[in-house]
Amino acid sequence: MLCRDSVCRFVLMGLIVLFGLNGSVCLASTEITSEANNVNKLIIHTEAGKDTISPEIYGHFAEHLGRCIYGGFWVGEDSPIPNTRGIRNDVVEALKKINVPVIRWPGGCFADEYHWKDGIGLPQQRPSTVNSHWGMVTENNRFGTHEYMDLCEMLGCQAYISGNVGSGTPEEMHDWVEYMTFGGKSQMADLRRANGREQPWKVKYFAVGNENWGCGGNMTPEYYADLYKRFATYIRNYPGNNITKVACGPGWDDYKWFEVLLSSAAKSMDAISLHHYVFEGDWNHKGKATVFDEQGWFNTLKKTFFLDKMIVEIKKIMDKYDKEGRIGLFVDEWGTWWDVEEGENPGFLYQQNTLRDAVVAGCFLNIFNQHCDRVRMANIAQTCNVLQAMVLTKGEKMIVTPTYYIFEMYKVHQGAKYLPSDIVCNPYKSGSETLPSITASASKDKSGKIHISICNLNPEAPAELECSLEGFKVQKVTGRVLTADVMNAHNTFEEPDAVRPAEFKGIEIKDGKILATIPSKSVVVLAAE
Ligand code: AHR
Repeated sequence: MLCRDSVCRFVLMGLIVLFGLNGSVCLASTEITSEANNVNKLIIHTEAGKDTISPEIYGHFAEHLGRCIYGGFWVGEDSPIPNTRGIRNDVVEALKKINVPVIRWPGGCFADEYHWKDGIGLPQQRPSTVNSHWGMVTENNRFGTHEYMDLCEMLGCQAYISGNVGSGTPEEMHDWVEYMTFGGKSQMADLRRANGREQPWKVKYFAVGNENWGCGGNMTPEYYADLYKRFATYIRNYPGNNITKVACGPGWDDYKWFEVLLSSAAKSMDAISLHHYVFEGDWNHKGKATVFDEQGWFNTLKKTFFLDKMIVEIKKIMDKYDKEGRIGLFVDEWGTWWDVEEGENPGFLYQQNTLRDAVVAGCFLNIFNQHCDRVRMANIAQTCNVLQAMVLTKGEKMIVTPTYYIFEMYKVHQGAKYLPSDIVCNPYKSGSETLPSITASASKDKSGKIHISICNLNPEAPAELECSLEGFKVQKVTGRVLTADVMNAHNTFEEPDAVRPAEFKGIEIKDGKILATIPSKSVVVLAAE
């Protein structure tokens, strides 16, 4: 069922997941047939695209938490582990291959306890502080503003800094921005020069606090909205730098928070955030990363899909207060959250990463693409050794995770034109609950090539897919697939290549359509020209 009118039609055959409607063509629709055994259909409207997929949807997040910064990115100049000015070469090389567009730093909950002046100046003179949110460990502040900006320069990515509202002051936030971005003569700019950096940096994104409803100060939305306006006033755009100011949003379906923030402070924000973590059970029973059954697989995907529902609701509120669509929705923390691996510090959030995490990531990224008219940034939590990581390190060893490969396969969508699509697919059922068995999103890059990312959620059954590219004569199609024999397949330091993408062979072109057999529990990316 297609959505070619200004109003999408909802047809309830099984469960229907329906995405935004803004303009004459729906960005995406999914219809689930009531019975299985049908050929799944994907119809891509190749001439209907009007939105660009912001590269920042493929963004990352690195917090002073566990071994994300220390041991993950940072080993210090004197380490035997190969590094450049203290930053691990292997990690930088791996991340360059996935085109990291932005890294959010220094937190997370750490951000509202962080006082940036602790992290500048001579290393031996930097104070020791306590990371009281994450494991009560001593923070020696060796990785600070200069080191973070150096990392961004090495990766060629944008900076996204979370400022301290919870325990900081407007003056402290103002000074940080002046320190980093003012090129003229001033006390802060001179301090930066004295610390070895002559030219100001570019800082494109700056958040006014993090989770200020919780670890960032336990505030009500009304109180935070007033504080937001106060702090945001002093985040200045110095010549040559233009900051996207980000207001804190909720971490669950708290639509009231959006109403209050947007009704009170829409004019002074450029983006508002949302966090969404998924697990098998509830917050206190998250489940294990590598030990789970099909119910655990299903539950996690169900929670992933809930994000789509939330975004649909949030967009309605944003459309009410921001009719021009100026304000972006930044899902600046997302991903799986499992029980900490045995033997690890409980405050360090170290977890393994399996094929399940990869399929979850593929579904999340398809949802972001489908909502790219509003979702302009998303940051998976977190880059190294914490939660749904890209890379895991152990001393001098480093491995990449199945989730890393999803970012590598999907990087073709970065900056491409989003192509609306409709799916009619078989149900993926668990008891009385139903999910679509297939999710997909498509884009056209600058060279005219079309990329289609497809996830088969069903861990038992392959999916026959018939893909029509309306308005496009497909002459050649190639593909890559990420899958494994078992749901919990993962890479280890002993077996680092257990899960990695392979050439996808199950495709042909027939009568102008692409026919493909998408393996069970897999993510496929096709390139059509
Ligand atoms: O990513 C881990 C934590 O999750 C972040 O510090 C916080 O913002 C969120 O609750």
